Amino acid sequence: MPLVGTKEMFKKAYEGGYAIGAFNVNNMEIVQGITEAAAELNSPVILQASAGARKYAKGPYLRHLVEAALEVNDIPIALHLDHGPDFETCKACIDDGFTSVMYDGSKYEFKENIKRTKEVVAYAHEHGVVVEAELGKLAGIEDDVKVAAHDAAYTQPEEVEEFVSETGVDSLAIAIGTSHGAFKFKPEQCTRNADGVLVPPELRFDILAEIEKKIPEFPIVLHGASSVIPKYVKIINANGGKLDDAVGIPEDQLRRAAKSAVCKINIDSDLRLAMTAGIREHFMAHPEHFDPRQYIADGRTYIKELVEHKIKDVLGSDGRADEIVALVNANK
Ligand code: G3H
Ligand code: 13P
Ligand code: ZN
Repeated sequence: MPLVGTKEMFKKAYEGGYAIGAFNVNNMEIVQGITEAAAELNSPVILQASAGARKYAKGPYLRHLVEAALEVNDIPIALHLDHGPDFETCKACIDDGFTSVMYDGSKYEFKENIKRTKEVVAYAHEHGVVVEAELGKLAGIEDDVKVAAHDAAYTQPEEVEEFVSETGVDSLAIAIGTSHGAFKFKPEQCTRNADGVLVPPELRFDILAEIEKKIPEFPIVLHGASSVIPKYVKIINANGGKLDDAVGIPEDQLRRAAKSAVCKINIDSDLRLAMTAGIREHFMAHPEHFDPRQYIADGRTYIKELVEHKIKDVLGSDGRADEIVALVNANK
């Protein structure tokens, strides 16, 4: 089937109390690992490419990889621009066939964010593409967005109604305590459980509840939602890596979010950790290997395992592909 947008995905996710996984893609094996897992579980999925991913892989490669995934797997897939830094990047992706774009104006003050988001919405909607925007600031580092922890700011519930109605966006990313990367909290912000594992402070579900009251039935997006699964961190560290005190968002909190108005949960760091774990483990076990197909395949295997786990045990989107296809067909 052709690429789909996220409108139908979010409607069904909202009604069904589940969330759609939005996984960052940068190369063929990542696309394969994610989509094979989603297809086996009959789950919808969002593949998202950042500006950095487009720079690394080049737009046409990413587009064709996603098209290949559609040809091989019979599930609804949306292609989304993650953290679009400006109008030009959003326009380029819309012109290139993306079905959804994020314009990230969160670094601007409220009115400027509205003004810039509106420009993207106008162009996107003219071309049948949906738009995600962001209010509030997440801490963390990506290629194009760098926010120091002291500059991070929770979304203010009293701003969301005006932002959504003024801009006409289709979904809203909010800041309630998540952040980008594999080191989301400093050890001193956490407690330790009986096994010595860092336990971070709880997400601000009170802010999420306030936002839901202000904009009922509106799809909310959680960025920075990797859980930094200890299994992969342990494998990395046991095989020559050094990721001390990596900490993510506990999965019980993500499950709780998925049952609420949160319809899209963004995962990148967990994919990076799974891929790195597979490759490091391979090299330690087979120092004589130098065929990339051998070691990258092990990274892909862990990506597939990770995405299966997320879909079944965190997002709850398994078995939901058909209801989305039916809605897309009904809306044609
Ligand atoms: O939130 C951003 C994603 O993790 C993308 O990261 O800009 O390094 O591709 P990137
Ligand atoms: P993580 O770094 O927690 O995977 O967040 C990814 C993300 O938000 C992509 O936009
Ligand atoms: Zn993000």
